[in-house]
Amino acid sequence: MVDYSVHEQVAVFEVNNPPVNAFSHKVRVGLDRSIDKAIRDTNVKAIVICGKGRTFPAGADIREFDQPHKEPWLTGVFEKLEKTTKPVVAAIHGTCLGGGLECALFCHYRIAQKTARVGFPEVQIGILPGAAGTQRLPRLTGLRVAMDMITSGRHILAPEALKYGIIDEMFTGDVINAGIKFAKSVMNKPLEDRCLKNKTVKDADQADQIADEFMSLVKRKYKGFEAPIDCVKAVKASATLPYREGLKAEAMYMQKLVLSGQSAAQRYAFFSERAVSRWKIPGGNFQTAKPLPIKSTAVIGAGTMGTGIAVCLLNAGYQVYLLEQNQKFLENGVKTIRGIIEGSVRLGKTPMAVAQKAATLLKPTMKYEDLADVDLVIEAVYENLSLKREIFSKLDKLCKPTTLLCSNTSSLDINRIGTATKRGDKVAGMHFFAPAYYMRLLENIYSTETSPATVATIMDVGRKIGKVSVLVKSCQGFLANRMRGPLSVEAYFLLEEGSTPQEVDSVLENLGMPMGPLKTGDLSGLDIGYKIQTELAKSKGVELTADSKFLMGERISTLTRTMYDKGRLGRKTGKGWYRYEKPGGKLATPDEEVMELIKDHCMKAGIQRRNISTQEILERLVYSCINEGFKILEEGVAATPEDIDISWIYGFSWPKYLGGPMYYANKIGLDKIYQRICYYHENFPYSSHWIPSRLLQKLSENKVPMNQWCSGTDSKL
Ligand code: 3HC
Repeated sequence: MVDYSVHEQVAVFEVNNPPVNAFSHKVRVGLDRSIDKAIRDTNVKAIVICGKGRTFPAGADIREFDQPHKEPWLTGVFEKLEKTTKPVVAAIHGTCLGGGLECALFCHYRIAQKTARVGFPEVQIGILPGAAGTQRLPRLTGLRVAMDMITSGRHILAPEALKYGIIDEMFTGDVINAGIKFAKSVMNKPLEDRCLKNKTVKDADQADQIADEFMSLVKRKYKGFEAPIDCVKAVKASATLPYREGLKAEAMYMQKLVLSGQSAAQRYAFFSERAVSRWKIPGGNFQTAKPLPIKSTAVIGAGTMGTGIAVCLLNAGYQVYLLEQNQKFLENGVKTIRGIIEGSVRLGKTPMAVAQKAATLLKPTMKYEDLADVDLVIEAVYENLSLKREIFSKLDKLCKPTTLLCSNTSSLDINRIGTATKRGDKVAGMHFFAPAYYMRLLENIYSTETSPATVATIMDVGRKIGKVSVLVKSCQGFLANRMRGPLSVEAYFLLEEGSTPQEVDSVLENLGMPMGPLKTGDLSGLDIGYKIQTELAKSKGVELTADSKFLMGERISTLTRTMYDKGRLGRKTGKGWYRYEKPGGKLATPDEEVMELIKDHCMKAGIQRRNISTQEILERLVYSCINEGFKILEEGVAATPEDIDISWIYGFSWPKYLGGPMYYANKIGLDKIYQRICYYHENFPYSSHWIPSRLLQKLSENKVPMNQWCSGTDSKL
């Protein structure tokens, strides 16, 4: 686990624990023994620590957090390193993160390859750098930089680390050679001044002010998360307490966080994010299928979705043909793309060089013929099956035989789009979430015809454009929108039965969602729901009226129609479920007029209103979705609960500290959830989303633990 060798009086410890050289128990034991050996060897005058393969250690082994604590712990081993009378040099390449960076902060010197990254990402798994990181980093960088790095978890590149004094020198070339060369240059130099524990925090006199600033920042930016708050407190302790006392404070916060439900959920989310890339479909999987090379792409449709998708592709270095039928739409699309990229450069999120390259990669066109040689097409026109089939049939005839044809449809069956072509194996869905350049979820959809090579390719493209891709079997609404469906419907029923928009929204906002369903409705526009409902009724030969309560035997609410008739279309008209300061405004305030409209609607429709408890609102909004989630699993639309949870985290901003709705269901108890679903099914027999999932029934009756019905993230479930 730690390879030991001696070169020219320098002992080299190479941590060898692929893939990321995490400090597992075995590595800690190996490092401890290596230190003893180097201390004993009188021929050794200096020590170099580095990582074998792709990286310096990227932290403690997160999987061990759920196991009983085993000595030696990191801090004990690292302290031994610092105490040696032989200079210790951390020679960093790849990613030096968490416990890896803490190890480096106990070394007397740190040097790094120019492309190396360092950081404390612990906060993202709900903990803090608990092996003295919160006490040592501020002693090097000052409080402000340390607070920023530790509360955000961001990684910084070697040049920035050099600027803050985190590393002493940058190098190019081989890590071991650079480490040995540096170690030889510092042999026999005094070490007292190189031990961080002996240093003070330079901006300690501003501790109160800096901590207050960061406290209000993290409370606003990471609402509901416990770890950032404790990070601020622990880092502040580095300035207000002596080193040893500071360590005790850090240990206390760490202990509290590790045992908290939030950290367990965030660790589950960490492993789930990686588990969703291990896809499998009939005929192939992530190991057997190889992605096809993709260089040039095309996006059809320069509307909101099309332009957002084009930005993702351009930023990742793909050539993009942007196709529109009309010159004006095309020009507007190009303007939008430029605006998004320029805005991102201004915010420092996109490097100027990337933006300049993107400008050369964009090829606006109105000619389908220009798409003949592209490797991948993503169609993003409006949701109309015949239109999409027409486009796919055209593309099939003119594109080279290897071109993959994908649709950004949010709900239409990929099988039916694929049959418009003679290359069903190369047809798939790539469903982006608005705004496509920002939201991290990419729902990739396969039909019965889609080949493993096509799936491998779209999963690979997803990764390259920075998305978290979840693979889903084609069905109406796919995974995310289908599962969220009952939430909007129940929100309307709750309004009809007695709740106010604020009561409905605040339940989900208090749970940790950024916005309740009614505010979300105002944002997307209430005309959308109204039109979908009217079209659906028409397709079934039914004419809906304001007091219709059923459609094809299913309970419906026509409240959006009432809102539509009054011109309350949401933010864009300045009024929807809330009132806004102006059309297009963002500040939602409760509106008495809405309550009058709702009450009037209920009176006409003969609906009795009552007081509804917060718990009932929560159960009806969330448990209905969970029930649908189990149906999605039961039908194999999603392969694992991790696919579902990751879709909610990255598609609907479900709070990571609750681990996703399926994880949340497991925490509440499947038997309790199942009982409540049965209760609502009895009370609302005309809402098919309350028909209990058979899988949920089976799992709850047999008390099956989650680690037996998930793909095995190994985290404590
Ligand atoms: N512990 C255990 N497993 C880890 C791990 C860790 N710290 N970091 C990564 N892995 C595993 C992943 O689960 C994945 O496993 P899989 O192949 O079975 O899915 C494998 O290593 C490769 O990881 P990625 O797919 O994420 O590889 P990338 O190259 O995309 O990213 C990385 C590499 C940037 C290092 C990324 O893995 C990462 O961010 N890891 C987490 C780093 C971290 O959080 N460190 C702090 C740990 S807590 C700590 O140190 C506590 C201390 O302060 C006391």
